[in-house]
Amino acid sequence: MTTDKCNIYIQSENRTISVEAGQTLLEALVGAGVLLRADCGGRGRCGKCKIRIIEPGSVDSENELPESGALTREEIEDGYRLGCRLDVTGDMAVGIPESSMLTPEVAQKGPTTLPDTIPVFRAAAAPFGIAVDLGTTTIALYLCDLNIGKVVSSISLRNPQVMLGDDVMSRITSVSQNPGTLKRLQKMAVKAIEWGVDSLCRSSDVDPHTIDTMVIVGNSTMVHLFLGQDPSSIGVFPYEPLFKDERSVTAGSLGLTFNPDTAVRTLPLISGFLGADIIGAALAVDLGNKAEGTLLADVGTNGEIIFLGKNGFSATSCATGPAFEGASIRHGMHAISGAIDAVKVDAQTGRAICSVIQKNPKQPKKVSGLCGSGVVSAVAELYRAGLILKDGRFNAKAAPDLFQYEEELPEYILAPAGETLSGNAVTLTQKDIRAIQLAKGALYAGIQMLCSEKGYERPSRLLIAGAFGSYIDKEDALTIGMFPALPSDHIEIVGNAAGAGAVLTLFDDNYRKKAQALVRDTEVLELALHPDFQDIFIKSLAFP
Ligand code: FES
Repeated sequence: MTTDKCNIYIQSENRTISVEAGQTLLEALVGAGVLLRADCGGRGRCGKCKIRIIEPGSVDSENELPESGALTREEIEDGYRLGCRLDVTGDMAVGIPESSMLTPEVAQKGPTTLPDTIPVFRAAAAPFGIAVDLGTTTIALYLCDLNIGKVVSSISLRNPQVMLGDDVMSRITSVSQNPGTLKRLQKMAVKAIEWGVDSLCRSSDVDPHTIDTMVIVGNSTMVHLFLGQDPSSIGVFPYEPLFKDERSVTAGSLGLTFNPDTAVRTLPLISGFLGADIIGAALAVDLGNKAEGTLLADVGTNGEIIFLGKNGFSATSCATGPAFEGASIRHGMHAISGAIDAVKVDAQTGRAICSVIQKNPKQPKKVSGLCGSGVVSAVAELYRAGLILKDGRFNAKAAPDLFQYEEELPEYILAPAGETLSGNAVTLTQKDIRAIQLAKGALYAGIQMLCSEKGYERPSRLLIAGAFGSYIDKEDALTIGMFPALPSDHIEIVGNAAGAGAVLTLFDDNYRKKAQALVRDTEVLELALHPDFQDIFIKSLAFP
């Protein structure tokens, strides 16, 4: 890749940024701290990253045809292009419409699930701290008042790194193939966090200079990328991270500008695929004091599972992929306005009745796509209605008018063209169902294998954590077989426990010691290489 520099003049901000050529305009802007919406993660589908090109006068980009649905003919004639489809090849001048900018209104209020009583053990030198759950797909931030031990406000946004790869393996591969990518990924994470901090401080009238400490949890690859450390070793046998210990640096050394002196801490890692996020989640749910047989699964783009057996903790990971968070899904999006978050099928007609997130009731209710809980809900409901078969294929013959076809493959219509923002139907595709099957199959197989390796038939209790976790319906998850069929009251959805662990560590330094003890006391099992894993995984793909 060329490392030529190009200048981009941003008219709306009256400033010029210098960026590397060869990346998309969207990547370049996000890397410079100009956070655009990019609801579809740079796939050219949502149309939210539209930018007006002022100079040069004529540019070509993919998806510029109005038929793509992302831009109208008038917009194209007015010089609008999709930032995610346009490569930076020379100097440019651009105008960014307000509607393309990420704003707190379009980000999501972060899910907070915290123990009822949060102990406060220290008198803070400065009043505020920030806890961050840096996920592969979703970043959740919590502004915390350290004096009174309270989360003041929270927000979550899509990790802009998805533009350079949906999952950790694809990001590791891009870093291994092009060392320049590490810097770009690190900058994207830093700028997204900075944007989140700024939004939280503004909404709560807090001076960002008073932020004393920041605690970050995330999977091992995310922690490496955030700290600017090469995660390549995690991608090759024996999948070891470059470091496992907790790290403590200053915000300024990472490029965070709100207060360069803020102490930034990352919790320790267990292994290449068991990161600071599962540690944070285990601390938050106080796993050590749960009953024998309790299993905690932190479900993100990578599933991390920790089990409390009679001989202590054991843990494994499974590659669930980003489907549960609405990514890698044809019309998938973050859980923001316009996203379908739950689906019911009309028993008479078989048509979908969708619940759609709408932050501003005054705006017309238009569907943009579906978020993680919406995808799981749609698959579960269509399976219950007999429109999806046990093996995951659509039963389109039963009701052909409920489907549209692309390249002869059926797609179930969730919202017809007239009800959507783009003017194209929002659908559930066969590939989407496949992505959910692969995700739930991996999670189910991971849970079963970990239990049987430790001599248990199944867990006695299940705690399901994840940024998506607060919104997922337990019955839907059981319908599609995401985890073993335990009685419903033995399954608890605990929300973003990893983020809660970061919050607790902010409030009480003792949690750092507890995190280290957890790393030391946890046995790691690499089950993906186990001879039985593939068999259980394949069997888990079908719906129960
Ligand atoms: S991010 Fe460019 S169209 Fe969605």
